[in-house]
Amino acid sequence: MAKAVYPGSFDPITNGHLDIIKRASEIFEEVTVAVAINSSKEPLFTIEERIEIVKRVVQDYPNVKVDTFNGLLVEYCKDKDANVIIKGLRAVSDFEYEFQMASINKKLVDDVETLFMMTNTKYSYLSSSLVKEIARLNGCIKDLVPDELVPIVRGKFNL
Ligand code: COA
Repeated sequence: MAKAVYPGSFDPITNGHLDIIKRASEIFEEVTVAVAINSSKEPLFTIEERIEIVKRVVQDYPNVKVDTFNGLLVEYCKDKDANVIIKGLRAVSDFEYEFQMASINKKLVDDVETLFMMTNTKYSYLSSSLVKEIARLNGCIKDLVPDELVPIVRGKFNL
């Protein structure tokens, strides 16, 4: 069985991400949720906060680990002896970008494969940015993030 890496900014982790993690954990021997330090995005949560939050919500999955990485994803995978990158596909609009990323990653390191999992249709509209936008405007983020994260995300906006 292969070891998989599920990378992302997770700013914050959503129910859509969690759904992919749960399903991947049933397929792979080990899944490492790799929280990117050096994202081009300006994060709301610090890297320490994002790791802590992800750890908290995956604690029931014994074969899911949480780690952080900087630099090229494929180099991280090589270091960790992981041969699969998991990515979630939410809609056709994700395809072009993800196809480019998977292709460049394959060019960089040939023996790391990218596998795509279709995001549960319940969460196909979801993104971390949308969660932040709704919370910032004092909207309801229940059902979008794990229940225990609702006050944490709202707290970032002093709500
Ligand atoms: N459910 C809900 N939301 C989802 C989702 C799912 N199943 N899958 C993806 N998303 C959301 C993410 O939350 C993110 O939302 P945001 O844009 O509002 O933050 C958006 O879809 C895009 O996701 P993704 O493409 O995974 O972006 P990311 O910022 O979370 O992670 C990295 C990007 C870190 C994986 C990527 O930049 C990377 O690999 N960086 C390392 C450098 C490198 O090796 N680059 C490639 C070679 S040049």
